[in-house]
Amino acid sequence: MKKRILITGASSGIGEAIALEMAPEGHTFYLTGRNEQRLKAVCKKVKSMGGKVFLGVGDVSDVDSVDNQFSEAEAMMGGVDVLVANAGVGHFGNLEDMSVSQFDEQFNTNVRGVFMWMRKVLPGMKSRNTGQILVTSSNLGLKTSARTSVYSGTKHAVQAMVWCLRDELEGTMVKAATINPGSVSTPWFDGKDVNRDNMLTTTDVAKAAKLIIDQDETSNIDHILLLPGRS
Ligand SMILES: NC(=O)c1ccc[n+]([C@@H]2O[C@H](COP(=O)([O-])OP(=O)(O)OC[C@H]3O[C@@H](n4cnc5c(N)ncnc54)[C@H](OP(=O)(O)O)[C@@H]3O)[C@@H](O)[C@H]2O)c1
Repeated sequence: MKKRILITGASSGIGEAIALEMAPEGHTFYLTGRNEQRLKAVCKKVKSMGGKVFLGVGDVSDVDSVDNQFSEAEAMMGGVDVLVANAGVGHFGNLEDMSVSQFDEQFNTNVRGVFMWMRKVLPGMKSRNTGQILVTSSNLGLKTSARTSVYSGTKHAVQAMVWCLRDELEGTMVKAATINPGSVSTPWFDGKDVNRDNMLTTTDVAKAAKLIIDQDETSNIDHILLLPGRS
């Protein structure tokens, strides 16, 4: 069945890969990010693969931007069947070395942004009694490790939000889930001195996202933890 899919942070990495993985099925997409040029390039690819696509330029941490994009997505697509709340940033290092602005950027993008998008799409999904919310969390939403305190804090926060939401949605056909990847080779690591050979690929993560988006009515996936196969 063709779906109306809204993906935040679709201008690169995992968000882009999810759009490309789903595009051949002819769904309609509303893709968001701040970088219009990169978004346009992704939209072109999605279109060439069979998807119908709209784009919205804006910041997930800005309430007016989210409100405007949501109104536009509703007007263009007539509703949102699937929200992939994926936009995120990460800063890593010992806790005392994190700046307050790095803390704010991560919580505003990874937590506030996810919260604001979820609260916009839920009323429509509930009134239609169908819908899928999918949040890109992390393996660091389920465990902790040194030098990831603030980032891991954001991912534990969204993990808890999604699990609470699942409780609120009990008895409805609206579903919420997370994908929880370990390290994924994305532009995130560009310019950093890291070995990407043992990382997950964006396609690995997109396939897991597709499994959740395409699940049958009889199934309600909670989360998918993906760890690199080669490590
Ligand atoms: N890469 C990993 O190892 C890994 C592992 C586990 C989970 N994750 C999660 O996966 C998600 C995607 O990350 P990625 O690895 O694919 O990195 P990426 O290639 O840097 O993609 C991040 C996306 O988020 C968007 N974004 C960032 N801040 C935004 C903001 N304030 N408003 C709107 N869009 C914003 C970026 O678009 P613009 O720059 O155009 O705004 C971009 O499209 C994140 O939530 C991340 O935490 C990544």
